[in-house]
Formats: sequence, C-alpha cells, structure tokens
Amino acid sequence: MTATYSPDPSRYETMPYRRCGKSGLRLPAVSLGFWHNFGHADNAENARAMVRRAFDLGIVHFDLANNYGPPPGSAEENFGRILRQDLSAHRDELIVSSKAGYTMWPGPYGDFGSRKYLVASLDQSLKRMGLDYVDIFYSHRPDPETPMEETMGALDSIVRSGRALYAGISSYNPEQTRRAARLLRELGTPCLIHQPSYSLLNRRVEEGLLDTLDELGIGGIAFCPLAQGILTDKYLAGIPENSRAATPHGFLKPAQITDDKLAKVRALKTIAEQRGQSIAQLAIAWVLRRDTIASALFGASRVEHVEDIAAVQGHLSWTPEELAAVEAAVA
Ligand SMILES: NC(=O)c1ccc[n+]([C@@H]2O[C@H](COP(=O)([O-])OP(=O)(O)OC[C@H]3O[C@@H](n4cnc5c(N)ncnc54)[C@H](OP(=O)(O)O)[C@@H]3O)[C@@H](O)[C@H]2O)c1
Repeated sequence: MTATYSPDPSRYETMPYRRCGKSGLRLPAVSLGFWHNFGHADNAENARAMVRRAFDLGIVHFDLANNYGPPPGSAEENFGRILRQDLSAHRDELIVSSKAGYTMWPGPYGDFGSRKYLVASLDQSLKRMGLDYVDIFYSHRPDPETPMEETMGALDSIVRSGRALYAGISSYNPEQTRRAARLLRELGTPCLIHQPSYSLLNRRVEEGLLDTLDELGIGGIAFCPLAQGILTDKYLAGIPENSRAATPHGFLKPAQITDDKLAKVRALKTIAEQRGQSIAQLAIAWVLRRDTIASALFGASRVEHVEDIAAVQGHLSWTPEELAAVEAAVA
C-alpha cells in the first residue's frame, strides 16, 4: 500500500447523507464499524485499506467502542494510527464515535454506567485514538443499578466539556429510551442517536422502539444489519475458513447459523437477484427503508465488502410488492 494517500476527489458524489433524527447532523447511508477485524489480532494493512476505501466511497462515519479488539482497546489504537497516517487532514469530514458500558478494566469502575467509568473510559479512548474529542459518545448499554440520572449526567458533562459533540445510547428499550431522552433534554443536551441491533433476522426494534425514536426526534443507526454475515451468501454452502464464524475470537458461533435462518437467506437471494443486488445489499437497503434509521452500521473483513455495501446507494427504493416478498421470505 502506498505510504501517502490522496482521497478520491469524487467521494461525495454518490453516497446519500441522511438526517439523524431532528438534529443538524447527517450520516452516510452506511457507516463502518470496528467491532471485528480492526484489532491487534487482525491484519493492520487490511484494516487500513478498508478505511481508505470507505473514505473514498463517502463513508465518513467510523464507529468504535472502548472494548473493540481483541485485545480490548486495540481497535481504537489502530484507528488512531490510520487517522494519523491517512486522514489527519480530514478530521472535520469525519464522524467518529466511541462507547463505554461493557467490561473494560478490572475492579468496580470498569463496567456499566457510572460517571466514574464513562468519564475515565472516554479519556482513555481519546488517548488511544489521539483525538481531542469524539463526535458521538454512547452509553453502550443500560445499567440496571446505576441511577439513569447519573449516566445521563455523565453524558451531559462529557458533551459540555467538549470531549464529545453529541450524546447517544445503545440497546436501551423504549421505556429506558424515553427516560434517557427526558433526562438529557432537561440537562440541555439532546439525545442525538440510538444504536440498536436491527436486521431482517432481528426485528425487535419494530415492537415500539422505532416509533419511540420518531416521536422523540432521535435518529437510529442499525448495528449488525447483516446479522454478523448470515445475511449474505457466505454461509449458504457451509462455513468458509476465512469467515467470522470460523474465527476463534469471532462473536458469531457456528451454532447460530441454523437451517431455518439459511432457508430465509435462500428465499431472500431470489428477491435480491430480481432487484439486481447482492443479498448483503438487499439486507442493508431493507433496514434503511424507514427514515428512522439514518444509517446502517456494517462490519467488513475485506475491501470488497466495503465496496459492495457502499454500492447499495444505487438502489435503496422498494416497491410494495418487493416488501411483501421480503416479508414472506422471512416469515
Ligand atoms: N452497540 C452495540 O452494542 C453493538 C454491538 C455489535 C455491533 N455494533 C456495531 O455494529 C458494527 C457492525 O457489526 P457487525 O460487524 O456484526 O455487522 P454486520 O454488518 O451484520 O456483519 C459484518 C460481517 O458481514 C460480512 N460481510 C460484510 N459485508 C459483506 C459483503 N458485502 N458480502 C459478504 N459478506 C459480508 C463480514 O463477515 P466476515 O468477517 O465473516 O467476512 C463482516 O465481518 C460493529 O462494528 C459495531 O460498530 C454495536
């Protein structure tokens, strides 16, 4: 890979940028997540190539968390290095997010939702990435024991201190989302964004969360829109060697790839072919069919994945007949 990188001058010509709730921020229709394939355990040059290609294709939002790796923290370190090498002149064109909420360090202060944890964790994340601020900082999951006033108060002070521009929440249910949004509003820092799991194989958010987000003016960003790779053609003929399900530290386990899910993917394949799309593109276009979801937050293990997913911008629309066919395929 060449040491010097000049981004493609046409990078803003095709990617749609969609408004995130009732905010001033627009996000690329697809955003790249660093959960897998960006840790010290992975190939650094491949990670760098994926980031460069993403930026060239208008994917300006990179999503991280304190614990992404392995080892935890290493995805942020690697992202920081890529930023310095290739994108330092483009910081103001990027939306970088991080999170705290899952186990990060031993003892009582390295997990869940206390002010102590969130503030210290973000300071560590900024150091690892070499940044003065992140664009979005998330409470990664609700904490059943810490008063929500404390968690939201921590997000508010983080934003006021300039360490983050916007506050977000992830995996909060509709009731928790309402409370978090009210607390943040009272403090004067609106909740910008909610990051839930959403795909054709996991539609829980349709049971109230999406309507809640619309009502509150909060934008959605759907994580795992490909169900960790199941919603592609990858597993239709067994588990390939270079796949997440075959990787010891991958979060997708072979037992999760059931015949029932594969039958649905096969039925979706027919619809994807009729639409002239890959199965992955169909799955991404489907989570974006409702404006509530500003962006689909995908993962990738190679440059071709980034290219395939970015190309979804060419075909995001749906006919009622196609949507009905998709419903039948996953019923
Ligand atoms: N807030 C939370 O609690 C939370 C939880 C999970 C994830 N996230 C966020 O969501 C992001 C995405 O999660 P995810 O990686 O599980 O998402 P995903 O998009 O559902 O799955 C990504 C995997 O699908 C495969 N893939 C991607 N594009 C493909 C293509 N065009 N053709 C064939 N296969 C393709 C790759 O699998 P192989 O690696 O097998 O090649 C890739 O690693 C994470 O990086 C993270 O930022 C957030």
